[in-house]
Amino acid sequence: MSEEKKYKRTLVTSALPYANGPVHIGHLAGVYVPADIYVRYLRLKGEDVLFIGGSDEHGVPVTIRARKEGITVQDVVDRYHYLIKDSFEKFGISFDIYSRTTSDTHHKFASDFFRKLYDDGKFIEQVSEQFYDEETKEFLTDRNIRGECPRCHSLGAYGDQCEKCGATLSPDELINPYNAVNGNPLVKKETKHWYLPLDQHEEWLRKWILEDHEEWRPNVYGQCKSWLDGGLKPRAVTRDLDWGIPVPVEGAEGKVLYVWFDAPIGYISNTKELCDAHPELGSWEKWWQDNDTRMIHFIGKDNIVFHCIVFPAMLKAHGDYILPDNVPSNEFLNLEGDKISTSRNWAIWLNEYLVDFPGKQDVLRYVLTANAPETKDNDFTWKDFQARNNNELVAIFGNFINRAIVLTHKYFGGKLPKRGQLQDIDNAAINEFAEVKKQVESYLDVFRFRDAQKEAMNLARIGNKYLADTEPWKVAKTDIDRVATILNISLQIAANLAIAFEPFLPFSAAKLRSMLNMCDVKWEVLGSIDILEEGHEIKPAELLFEKIEDAVIDGQLNRLAEIKKANEEAKKAEEEANWKPEEVGAPVDFETFEKLDIRCGKILDCQKVPKADKLLQFKIDDGMGGRTIVSGIAAYYKPEDLIGMEVCFIANFPPRKLKGVESQGMILSAVDKDGKLVVISPSKDVAPGSKVG
Ligand code: MF3
Ligand code: ZN
Repeated sequence: MSEEKKYKRTLVTSALPYANGPVHIGHLAGVYVPADIYVRYLRLKGEDVLFIGGSDEHGVPVTIRARKEGITVQDVVDRYHYLIKDSFEKFGISFDIYSRTTSDTHHKFASDFFRKLYDDGKFIEQVSEQFYDEETKEFLTDRNIRGECPRCHSLGAYGDQCEKCGATLSPDELINPYNAVNGNPLVKKETKHWYLPLDQHEEWLRKWILEDHEEWRPNVYGQCKSWLDGGLKPRAVTRDLDWGIPVPVEGAEGKVLYVWFDAPIGYISNTKELCDAHPELGSWEKWWQDNDTRMIHFIGKDNIVFHCIVFPAMLKAHGDYILPDNVPSNEFLNLEGDKISTSRNWAIWLNEYLVDFPGKQDVLRYVLTANAPETKDNDFTWKDFQARNNNELVAIFGNFINRAIVLTHKYFGGKLPKRGQLQDIDNAAINEFAEVKKQVESYLDVFRFRDAQKEAMNLARIGNKYLADTEPWKVAKTDIDRVATILNISLQIAANLAIAFEPFLPFSAAKLRSMLNMCDVKWEVLGSIDILEEGHEIKPAELLFEKIEDAVIDGQLNRLAEIKKANEEAKKAEEEANWKPEEVGAPVDFETFEKLDIRCGKILDCQKVPKADKLLQFKIDDGMGGRTIVSGIAAYYKPEDLIGMEVCFIANFPPRKLKGVESQGMILSAVDKDGKLVVISPSKDVAPGSKVG
């Protein structure tokens, strides 16, 4: 375990989302809400902190989106950058800067960063063979290569994965690979790239992570350990692509920096952009190159290797930079039991939530934190969303605040009444909530946001229970001084809530502060019963949270049900499009074929075989006096539909008994796309007994 380190400032980054679509609840729960809670907490404590965000606008995902929508890549990143930025703002994600990797500052910064590593000999050059489309003259990335899956043989598997059987693939494994965009066949062609020799960094990385950072979350530590134990290999940091930052080396035309090389540098260039515009923040170097800065990366679990191994190796190779202190990474959030998926539209998009639930950003923040996938994948369900809103935010938090404020107006004209002699019940409540600060801190300091929020919520529970137990509305008839004490304590608890919830529910906390007429809030005073002074005037009560009705939830569930249905239909259509006959079997010679006596015949009668679900028995006019054949096609035909039909059958099978009925041959049928059997019939009338060959 590393020793408690002294630091002067904290730089917080959150993964730069791809600008290839809107952001959804999975992004919010996994990265942005926890990062925002942490940053708000540090700011409340008066610490020096910067929160850096931005869009990741390079890489293949944005180019795929452009092709799908038939617009330019620039249009795609413009559209989604602003949409994402807007969603984050509306959810109160309090970035100090939210910029983009297509900015000039970033292009120059990333290019210079690469060039320094190149000049210092930190890369190795390697020539390899990659798939190439000779017509379009382009090298293809994994995702743009499709072909037959080597495992399940479905067509249309991707170069990195088969979506049918889930196998992880490399493009080399695909059978008959083709260009996913135009269907062209591909050839292998040599191309030169620059690689970061991670193997040369393995030793210090092992020590730095496995020995010095045992405190990292088990999922992060574990993933790093398994990468390190597996042995690190050089990783290409350039790509053959026409979208991205050109490789600043002669002879590298048509090559760009790999998106995972330039994107994390975006954290630095965005800091530079911010500091250049705000000199009072100090130089960007102070935030990135001074050992007194502590750096924290908030990310999702698919980003662990890049932030814990690749980016640190880049920073180390450069030489001037600090390394992250912690990389709190969450697992994934599922939606109603299924993996969130952009391509299947299985998500709750933030921009849509904002339309469906105006003003309810805090509700989502609350639920996502309460269910944060911190240690394992977790599930978001609309029912749970409703229950947490109605039973916790409304019934406990909102109810407590409302009663405390309304009663203060009713009995004391909206002025904080005097606290008199304390009774046991008062002391019990006071002692209990005095503990909350320490508890919340102890969790926030180690990035346990769900537990932290639960503790903060305890404050509301304490308040709610205190009012229920002391019943000031009853006491008012006999002892108004006692009511004064109760409401004084209640409003102090309310003031505590306004502070404790500022990191978690910033909009509601602000509303509460305004009702309580509080100006500056400091984390320090949390736990105190002297936050508000006697005589302090408060404003009228406003609704903090409101009940969410069943109809609203049903509307959301119906929307999801429709998406699921559409997905199932699309999947079936794709399967049909990809259906192909089974491979041709082993060769047989003509003599073997000739041994088979295949003939045509007419079905005279057809019935179910008793006690056999699958079997039908046929009476066939075979031109030779008739015969009985039993066939396993009961699932696909009604007996009466087959009577009169001409069929083909194998006439020289030795007879065998099936469920007590002797079968003298075999009726031929084909297998269709769904695996159903279809009986084969001659295209024109032929005489029963005619030979097929
Ligand atoms: N765009 C990446 C993703 O969504 C994350 C990039 S994080 C950064 O998975 F470090 F590269 F910026
Ligand atoms: Zn497969």
